[in-house]
Amino acid sequence: MEDPILKRGDEWIEKLTPKLPTILNPSYWEDQLVQSLFASHEFQNQLFRFVDVFPALKTTENVVEHFRAYLENLELSPRVESLLSLTTSPLTQVMCQRLIKFSVEKMAKKYILAESLFSNKAFIKGLEYQGYRMSFDILGEATLTEREAKNYSDLYLSMIDRSDEINESQEPSKILNLSLKSTALIPHLSMVDHEGSVSKLVEALLPILMKAKEKHVFINIDMEQTDFHEIIYDAFEVCLLHEDLIDYEDIGIVVQAYTKDSEQRCLKLFELSKKRETSFAIRLVKGAYWDYEIAMARQRGWPIPVFTDKSKSDEQYDKLSTLLLENTKLIYPAFATHNLRSMVHISLEVEKNEVGSKGFEFQMLYGMAPAFGEFILAEGYHCRLYCPLGEMIPGMGYLVRRLLENSSNTGFLKKFHAGVDLKVLFSKPDSLDELKLDTHTYSKAPLLNFTQTEVREQFENALMEWEANFPICIGEHSHLEKVNVFNPNNKECIAEIEFLKEKDLLNVFEKADEAFVSWKKVSVKDKAKMIARCANILEEKRFKLASLMSLEVGKNWEEADADVVEAIDFCRFYAKQSEKELGLQEVISTMGESNCLNYEGRGVTLVISPWNFPLAILCGMTTASLLAGNTVVMKPAEQSALIAYELYKILLDSGVPEDVLYYSPCDGEKVLSKVCDHALVKQIAFTGSKEVGLELLQKSLCVENSMIRPVYAEMGGKNSAYIDNDTDFDEVIPHVLHSAFAFAGQKCSALSRLFIHKDIKDEFMERLLESVPTYQLEISTDKKCDVGPLIDETSFERVNDLLQVLEEDANVKQCYKSHDVPKQGYFVPISIYEVGDLKHPLMQDEFFAPILAIMCVDSFEDGMMKMNDSSFGLTASIFSRHPVHIEQAKERLEVGNLYINRGCTGAVVGRQPFGGLKLSGTGRKAGGTGYLQQFAVAKTVTENTCRHGFVSHET
Ligand code: FDA
Repeated sequence: MEDPILKRGDEWIEKLTPKLPTILNPSYWEDQLVQSLFASHEFQNQLFRFVDVFPALKTTENVVEHFRAYLENLELSPRVESLLSLTTSPLTQVMCQRLIKFSVEKMAKKYILAESLFSNKAFIKGLEYQGYRMSFDILGEATLTEREAKNYSDLYLSMIDRSDEINESQEPSKILNLSLKSTALIPHLSMVDHEGSVSKLVEALLPILMKAKEKHVFINIDMEQTDFHEIIYDAFEVCLLHEDLIDYEDIGIVVQAYTKDSEQRCLKLFELSKKRETSFAIRLVKGAYWDYEIAMARQRGWPIPVFTDKSKSDEQYDKLSTLLLENTKLIYPAFATHNLRSMVHISLEVEKNEVGSKGFEFQMLYGMAPAFGEFILAEGYHCRLYCPLGEMIPGMGYLVRRLLENSSNTGFLKKFHAGVDLKVLFSKPDSLDELKLDTHTYSKAPLLNFTQTEVREQFENALMEWEANFPICIGEHSHLEKVNVFNPNNKECIAEIEFLKEKDLLNVFEKADEAFVSWKKVSVKDKAKMIARCANILEEKRFKLASLMSLEVGKNWEEADADVVEAIDFCRFYAKQSEKELGLQEVISTMGESNCLNYEGRGVTLVISPWNFPLAILCGMTTASLLAGNTVVMKPAEQSALIAYELYKILLDSGVPEDVLYYSPCDGEKVLSKVCDHALVKQIAFTGSKEVGLELLQKSLCVENSMIRPVYAEMGGKNSAYIDNDTDFDEVIPHVLHSAFAFAGQKCSALSRLFIHKDIKDEFMERLLESVPTYQLEISTDKKCDVGPLIDETSFERVNDLLQVLEEDANVKQCYKSHDVPKQGYFVPISIYEVGDLKHPLMQDEFFAPILAIMCVDSFEDGMMKMNDSSFGLTASIFSRHPVHIEQAKERLEVGNLYINRGCTGAVVGRQPFGGLKLSGTGRKAGGTGYLQQFAVAKTVTENTCRHGFVSHET
């Protein structure tokens, strides 16, 4: 097969060369310019970033400032250098801004056909006259609000309505052909709520498809990130089997060859065609989200769903091209590619399978490779151009993707324009571009992939299993007080747990102290084995644990799963770190003097953990302390004593001796506060409120005149984000919503103060407020849940009181309050307030609630100052595309965890060691280096090895 490809490739190139732009043609020089601009990788990177931010820059000053900031320190071509020099003087800045605008628009016009289908009919007719077919796509990525989704849908409906203006006849080649993106039809598609998402998408697609059928318009569904594949393909199937559409042929869907399951996908689509006994189209592409897929898979710890070697994508494309051409009775194949080699392969397979020119078509993106299109038409094939329509601003994401494809080193077009040898261009794809995968210090547990049916089923089953066994009773001591644990979703009692009294706790301290000596002697290696085993058991029981958290503390599925993953990661990370950080450390010894430093346990650690990360935080503090050689008394939050009990059992099953670890639920205020300053407690690991943390610290300053007891206290935050005047709202708003409202704002890292630059405040708020309703308040065990209930009655009453006070507070303006609040559990509305005074409690006090305070700021400077005005210093986000602002924020913001262009929650063990400054906490960062050592005492031993002038040489 390879020789015929080379042979035909040779022939094609010979015929194609005269069609390529010559030096007399302006597009030759445009191409040359683009190629030279992209010669340096760093320049290309910075230029794309600038192109990406450009639509958001409203003033001349802002344009030139960004242009300078992005390109200033790079090696530049004389042309760009002279443009940059215009940015320095106010006299030439306007000219510079115009030149930049002109260039960016020119670049955009190369790939974006027109503003609307009807604004450039003459041009469209011209393309038709040349022989092209077209598919029109309204630019725009995922929508954020119902209104935007409706607008998108209305635009398609109106194009279909007016299709007579474009459709000249009902010949298949002539009918209007539209491509559409599913994520633009539905704001906030949920991976967990698969069924809900499918039915929403079907509901949005059906009217479009019905009207398209009536008016003889072709609709093609584009394919997006793998996160949405199952939803999109399932919705496609439902629509195609709908009784009114079952005989509708003018519909198609995309298959991305770079996904590893693309062959199965084609086979499933063949089955669908057989089932409905009507053909439809499959557009075969390689796939446009390659970087995104890899980055997401790595961050979530998932297997990479796409090939990481370009040649594998090419090979798969060839294989699937053949498969589609062998099945033209079932489907109509459309081959979307600019790769001449892939096209040559298809042309040969077309002949082999005797598929006539009506049986398939080539497709290309408008503006990408015009000469190839012309050539393909001249060869007698059909060629359809994918023509984006729309304005520059929503189109920029698309444009940057096109620029990336055009300039990617592995891409065919780049190699072709760079004059790579024809033999190389047309030979069988080789495997040179294999991606090097990261090697991590520990192996991070993957998050659950809720796009998979079996994963969702396992979660559902685990929930049912718990519910069938409620209420659970723990303990059988008649003298102990029985305390009920409630499901915050419906206030039902799910467990009855025995709480220790003062004397029981003292008894526990004594027993833990007695066991310390023997635990100290267990090697670090053996302890690490136990903790690594604990990680494995946690992973085996992940559904059981996550579903319990959903029931006990009201976490939704994804949040509960993330909590389990964090617990597993703590175990694996600390077990790995313990080899380096604990036990005997290397120090310098010299002749006649032997030195060593040893980290060993301190004694009994009292671990006091919160309910908001009931598994992860308890597990992290406990395992770190055990590894460092301490015995541990675990005092879980009253509200999450059940999940803590599960962890306790798992630790014992992992090999931790019973006399080393004590599950000690009790009333914190009435019982623990009386005994926690006991001298047998040698250190305290605490995560919770500032008040309790400070009290513990004070009580530990001088314990019975014999020690200063270390207290590692993580005490919360009043976390802020800043929105600069150059941000892309589409990117920012999902981060803001998630950071502020996920888990009902009950994370210590949650966003509660949002500072917005005055230039964009109104526009930003309009979009933010419209997108909040897409966040659904729902019981946490329901797949639809984005925001669940508050933890308990006390919290519920406190927040309701606060909301009441705010209703009557003239100093704040309520911007949003959700209406559909579930009635049965501890649910409160999502609320957003605009606040004018930085000293207002909404701006200074910590509330665990889905409440966001916003404040307008005059400038970046103003924003930085206001963010630092807090007694807390835990997390912060800055959303900006100004390189100088990003650098300044890194220097100036007084927080333990700063996030740039992402939300301020969700720290990952080992990647974002976590912990705050100021009143947010003391101690080393959880999930970071050095954390284990704080739980141990470091002992240096020096021995004089000289004896009467004789020096032992063994030292
Ligand atoms: P080329 O042969 O140069 O292939 C480039 C492609 O190879 C990349 O896009 C990527 O898929 C793959 N690749 C690059 N590096 C790789 C590596 N290291 N390992 C593995 N694979 C690697 N895309 C999409 O996702 N959904 C859609 O709906 C559409 N729709 C669409 C319509 C039309 C008409 C066209 C022409 C294209 C699309 N695309 C798309 C885009 C398409 O997926 C693809 O990105 C471009 O067409 C570039 O691929 P070529 O075959 O043209 O070039």
